[in-house]
Amino acid sequence: MSIAYLNGTWQPLEDARISPLDRGFLFADGVYEVIPVYAGKAFRLAEHLDRLDHSLSAIQLAAPLSRTGWENLLNELVQRNEGGNLSVYLQITRGAPAKRDHAFPAADTPATVFAMVSPMAPAPSATPDTTTGAAAVTAEDTRWLRCDIKSVSLLPNILLRQYAVSQGAIEAILLRDGVATEGSASNLFVVRDGTVITPPKSPLILGGITRDLILELCRAHAVPCAEANVSEAELRDADELWVTSSTRELVPVVRLDDQAIGDGRPGPVWRKVAGLYTDFKRSLDPSA
Ligand SMILES: Cc1ncc(COP(=O)(O)O)c(C=O)c1O
Repeated sequence: MSIAYLNGTWQPLEDARISPLDRGFLFADGVYEVIPVYAGKAFRLAEHLDRLDHSLSAIQLAAPLSRTGWENLLNELVQRNEGGNLSVYLQITRGAPAKRDHAFPAADTPATVFAMVSPMAPAPSATPDTTTGAAAVTAEDTRWLRCDIKSVSLLPNILLRQYAVSQGAIEAILLRDGVATEGSASNLFVVRDGTVITPPKSPLILGGITRDLILELCRAHAVPCAEANVSEAELRDADELWVTSSTRELVPVVRLDDQAIGDGRPGPVWRKVAGLYTDFKRSLDPSA
């Protein structure tokens, strides 16, 4: 049974309880992070905590813990759950004041801080030779205009992902005004003529930690790459298409709306960059 953290206490996940007045429950007034842990060590932790700071300040919620406080909490969470490969879920809401009111509660209302772990399955990038690739569908990006905030208000993302699942696909790739933004829970990469292209950071996408690392690895290893808008036509006509996230790493998409991408198999640039990603993880810990 996994051990969860809630407002300063540790308990079996099943026993954790929050108030129905919690603003996370009533309004989705909160933010979150998902942090992969390999061989007991949090991966790209500084980058995840930087993004958490960004999300908290964007919703005007003072950070309930210092940087060291977060690091200690997450280390203890991993240790209490016996390490290994995990994904950590961390959520912070604007607390549970006595009265439901859209406006912010008194500044001294304690935030709710919750953290749990889930087992993490090996990603396809770890086994590039046996990976066959996945199907995705396109959908209109129906989300709000602050997708850079990792908000727990995920209803549009949920509906979009469910649409993908109903079509037998693993992800919905979102289009806003004819331009591809990202997946419902992932960032988007296309390969065109050997260049790896991902949409630029803006309020219309979540700045993915995996996305940033992939760009960093491409630059370090002389793989041509660019941050540029991807039109719907360029998306459909791409040589390769990948979606990326902390828990799924780099997933090659080989069918989009029932049309093959490239030759319908994971492409050579994906194989190369997936290898760079796996090597980078192993350089930090050979057992990862
Ligand atoms: C909408 C959205 N975009 C992108 C990502 C990828 O971000 P990361 O690589 O930090 O996991 C996620 C992750 O859940 C997401 O929900």
